[in-house]
Order: sequence, then C-alpha cells, then structure tokens
Amino acid sequence: MSRSSLKRALGLAGCSLLLFAAGPSLAADPIVIKFSHVVANDTPKGQGAQMLQQLVEERLGDRVKIEVYPNSSLYDDTKGLNALLTGDVQLLAPSMAKLGQYSKSMQLYDLPFLFDDMQAVSRFEQTPEATKLLESMEGHGILGLAYWHNGMRQPTANTKMQEPRDMRGLKLRVEPSNVLADQVKALRAIPRKMAFGEVYQGMQTGVIDGQAGNTWSNIQTQKWPEVQQYVTEANLGVLSYVLITNDSFWKGLPAEVRTELNDIIAEVTESVNDNADRLNNEARQAIADSGSTTITTLSADQLADWREATDSVIDKYRDEIGDDLIRAAQQSNQGSTD
Ligand code: SIN
Repeated sequence: MSRSSLKRALGLAGCSLLLFAAGPSLAADPIVIKFSHVVANDTPKGQGAQMLQQLVEERLGDRVKIEVYPNSSLYDDTKGLNALLTGDVQLLAPSMAKLGQYSKSMQLYDLPFLFDDMQAVSRFEQTPEATKLLESMEGHGILGLAYWHNGMRQPTANTKMQEPRDMRGLKLRVEPSNVLADQVKALRAIPRKMAFGEVYQGMQTGVIDGQAGNTWSNIQTQKWPEVQQYVTEANLGVLSYVLITNDSFWKGLPAEVRTELNDIIAEVTESVNDNADRLNNEARQAIADSGSTTITTLSADQLADWREATDSVIDKYRDEIGDDLIRAAQQSNQGSTD
C-alpha cells in the first residue's frame, strides 16, 4: 500500500472509530414524554400541551420528544393518574378535583365561591402556601410542576337555574371530588361522578340532567350546548390544573434536560395563564351567539343565596384542607373587583 493510500485508510478508520465512540450518544433515541389529557386542543390546557410539545421540539428536539394525547384518546383522568404512577405516561394536567385522593389540601380549589376570579387565583399561586401545595403529593410519587388555569365553573341543565332551589332533584355530573359532590348535595341536587369524556352522552341519554360546574371553554368544546338548554353564570368555583409528573421519572432525567424542561414549562405556564380568560370569554360569546343555550345571569341577591346555600361545605372541609390554606386563598381576593 502506498504511503498516501495508507494515510487515507487510517483517516477513514479513525473517523469510524470516532463515530463509533460517539455513536451511543449521537444515535441515542430521544426520551419520550407522553402527555395525556382529556380536553380539546382549542382550550387553555390543550393549547398549553401543544406549545410545550413545540418548544421542546425546537430546543431539545434531539434529546426529548413530547407526544400529546388530547380528548381522552389515551386515558381518561382516573386511568391517566394510574398510568402516571406505573410510568406508562409521564405528564398530565388534571383538574384539582381529581387530586384530592393524593392530597387532602388539593381539595382547596373545589370549595364553593372561594376565589372571586382568576386574578385572585393567580395571586394565591404566588404565595408560599401555594408552593407547598404543589409539593403535597410527593408522598405518592407525584410531583407538581406548575399551576395551569382554566376558569370559573358554570352549571348547565335543561332547567333554568336562577335560584338555588331550582337545582333541587337534578342529577348533575361532578368530577371525582367529595367536596364537589357535597356542594351539589347542599343545593339539594344529586351528584353523579362521571368521566369527562362520558358527559355528553350522559346528557343526551338522560343518565344525567346536567353538570354541576365547568368552564365556558370546556362547555363549548365538548358541545354540551347541543344537549343543554341552560347555563347559569354562577362562577360557583374554580376549575384549574396542576401539571404533574412522576417524581422518580423527573428526578432521573439528565440535569441539563430537566433544567431546560423547567424553563420551557415556566414559559408555557405564563402563556396558558395569560390566555385562559380570553379563551373562556370567546367560548362564552360563541355559546351566547349560537342561540341554542340561554345564559342565565344572577343578581347580587341571588348570588348571595347561592353562596349561603353552599357555605356549609367550606366549614365541613376546613380541618381536612387546612384553615391556613383557606385563609390564604380568601386573602388573595383582596384586589379583585367583586
Ligand atoms: C378538564 O378540564 O381537564 C376536565 C375537567 C372535568 O373532568 O370536568
């Protein structure tokens, strides 16, 4: 072999050796993070999940891939939570109403008329109490990463609900939350716990008469107005989310990947929470424009009656949730317009 061909051969071999040495990290499959949720893409959470997927693709594309499964296409929330614990899914953003089984304090957000509006919710989420609340499921291997907003809860039915007594005897869907079930009972209605994806059919077939409270964006995107004649703008409570992951999965990620993911999540969280009110207002307008469902508004006196009818629920859960937490939440109403 000539000197030059020997050099060329050695060069190629060197290259292959180098490639071989670098091979495992270059060729390593990206870490797949499955994000399962139950709502439509054009909702606050749906948009947040898509933004997260996109930013991760842009900034960590060679190392991490987020797969988003909307509309209960992979799991409903109950099965999703089990899948998170077994490692079959890595990200969820369930409403707080689904998390009471892992942390009694998480039931806070289900209390009736606790927050005056979503600005009060934002203020509460800046407090040390709210940071502690995010950590309250760690004993179950669940890590809270961020608070994502949706909006205030409005009940729907085929009966006009102006006064609390109008709720009497209605079978209303609630999320799997004892607090929400007790609220419905306080209004002399009958709670029916049911998965989100089954609600439309439940309304259509008469298994339920309506639902006890959900956001404008969920009501609109689930097409409930097709089968519900009335919605009451009661702002009964808050439907909000915690973005959660499996604690050991998250802590097992390479540190630099976890740091970048945390930064992306902070950016997405800001966007979700900035846009949630707008999406809900647009959905409310679309429902009003459709003309198929009447929006009932409440006078100050009627609202006071609804509050009074459900007040006992706060006292019933005060010890379980924690008086300090309830007070911190109520404190955050200072500065709201109501
Ligand atoms: C959701 O917004 O994730 C669904 C809440 C529900 O189950 O009503």
